[in-house]
Amino acid sequence: MCGIVGIVGKHQAAPILVDGLRRLEYRGYDSAGIATVDASTGAGRLDRRRALGKLVNLADLLVHEPLTGTSGIGHTRWATHGAATTVNAHPHARGRVAVVHNGIIENYRSLREELAAHQIVPETQTDTETVAMLCNWFLDQGHSAEEAAKATIAKLEGAYALAFLFEGQVDLMIAARKGSPLAVGWGDGEMFIGSDALALASMTSEVTYLEEGDIAVLTRAGATFYTAEGETVERARKTVEIDINSVDKGGYKHFMAKEIAEQPRVLSAAADYYLGGRDTADRMGRELLESIDFSNVDRLVMVACGTAALACHTAKYWFEQIARLPVEVDIASEYRYREPPLSDRTVALFVSQSGETADTLAALRYCAGKARKIVSVVNVATSSIARESDVALPILAGTEIGVASTKAFTCQLTVLATMAITAARQRGHLDAAAETKLCEQLMAVPRLVGQALTCEEEVKKIASHLGHVSDALFLGRGAMYPLALEGALKLKEISYIHAEGYASGELKHGPIALVDDKLPVVVLAPSDALFDKSVSNMQEVMARGGKIIMVSDQAGLSEGGEGVWKTIEMPTIEGPFAAITYAVPMQLLSYHTAIEKGTDVDQPRNLAKSVTVE
Ligand code: F6R
Repeated sequence: MCGIVGIVGKHQAAPILVDGLRRLEYRGYDSAGIATVDASTGAGRLDRRRALGKLVNLADLLVHEPLTGTSGIGHTRWATHGAATTVNAHPHARGRVAVVHNGIIENYRSLREELAAHQIVPETQTDTETVAMLCNWFLDQGHSAEEAAKATIAKLEGAYALAFLFEGQVDLMIAARKGSPLAVGWGDGEMFIGSDALALASMTSEVTYLEEGDIAVLTRAGATFYTAEGETVERARKTVEIDINSVDKGGYKHFMAKEIAEQPRVLSAAADYYLGGRDTADRMGRELLESIDFSNVDRLVMVACGTAALACHTAKYWFEQIARLPVEVDIASEYRYREPPLSDRTVALFVSQSGETADTLAALRYCAGKARKIVSVVNVATSSIARESDVALPILAGTEIGVASTKAFTCQLTVLATMAITAARQRGHLDAAAETKLCEQLMAVPRLVGQALTCEEEVKKIASHLGHVSDALFLGRGAMYPLALEGALKLKEISYIHAEGYASGELKHGPIALVDDKLPVVVLAPSDALFDKSVSNMQEVMARGGKIIMVSDQAGLSEGGEGVWKTIEMPTIEGPFAAITYAVPMQLLSYHTAIEKGTDVDQPRNLAKSVTVE
């Protein structure tokens, strides 16, 4: 979602704000803007620059119309209320205050009505402008900047990370958090705020994460924190090591390409962390897994959104087949409002790359206090979801910038697989020899993923055709079924081609009506126990002229590949975890199709990386 950065500083703020926004652009790229307050003008003039579209447009604007001042706020927008226009771009300013906001102010209509009674009318279509209007009205009533901001915040309903900047106040910024993440960064004679530590990476490594309802009053000398009830409160300072190179494409054309290629390394790190360490002192990952304790559990509920939810659907096969544990998977936006019953023998598991997805966080909060244990699988160890879990398992994928999730998905699968193996042993369904075999099969995945990456040239040729189709179908059985859904999702999100995923066996119950000689049908069919069934389904498609792209291993391709349109060869894989490796051709297919179509791979239209609104 939107990205926020802010400085109460001693250097010119504009270039630092733009640099911070560059690292946040993955959160939204409909527009960008900054506001500064400039002491050199005597009165501490508040001024702003905003530009539609990517951050580069704002940077260009600032070359021609620079902004001076040592304190400022900046924003990259993912539009919620009001179209992506310059007028609707943040910061929103009214009178003596400018505001940046991530989230949704749900009661903005009623607040507008209250303000209309004072002849204060909006100039934009946004909910955020209402915050600036309200705060300025409190200032006009004679309140100090701090009082006005606090009075404004008290009237807001919904979700927000907010920062306020005031005319004439170079040494003051007020920040608040409810439902959307915000971090305060500590500098030497300067203070910062950012939507995440990544935004602050070049400024400081000392951060304080605001808790729900917190308000922070920042000056150059430091920050004072207040709870929602107005009490002053201490909040811990943490040193956060962020690899600044993680926001570098490292020679690749796109972050997505870099992140796909990184998979053998990061998967190996994840598998080692949880399965290695048997004979070493580093048992952290294993201890985290053991601490969940599945022995006396009767159900696992897995909740997530998008690709993370598809990781859960895939892992459901492992938990059920290996650990004999009943599993329920749900998407968070449905789960959170359904009021599902939960027993104290249920483990509730939340999977999220960002750890900030609003629906997933809300679902977690619903389960807290009801389920036996709240477990999360996250990429950002300092995220809200991680912090509110009893056990938070890091996926160790490193920063994922490409909006379409790739390495986070396969790392999530790897961690979920280690959890299924652990659960199986704890529940008495796995003897030592069987456990060792499964661990070896999982430890082999990074190497297999490395081999799978060599299919890229073949995939490029297929993508040169896919770039010209309007629809595609993805089919799979067993754990390959959720992967078919993931293949379709990837293609949709970055190449804008309509794609659907189906369980192979479900095809004849409706979707087969779509099949004609123009429809490419990607079939994920490793030569496993369900292979013959998949081949029968492929025959049904081919009999109707459908163009099969068969993804299988050597044995599968030679046994069932006759008459198919195209093939993608995967390595031979033993054991239940083939879906992790088969994710690679799904990622490459969508990547190269997007390249063929010339779409924006890393920042596809209408999407944002971290979905902190419902
Ligand atoms: C798709 C994608 C999204 C996310 C979803 C959940 O490529 O990335 O579907 O998986 O928005 O995000 P997290 O994992 O951050 O909760």
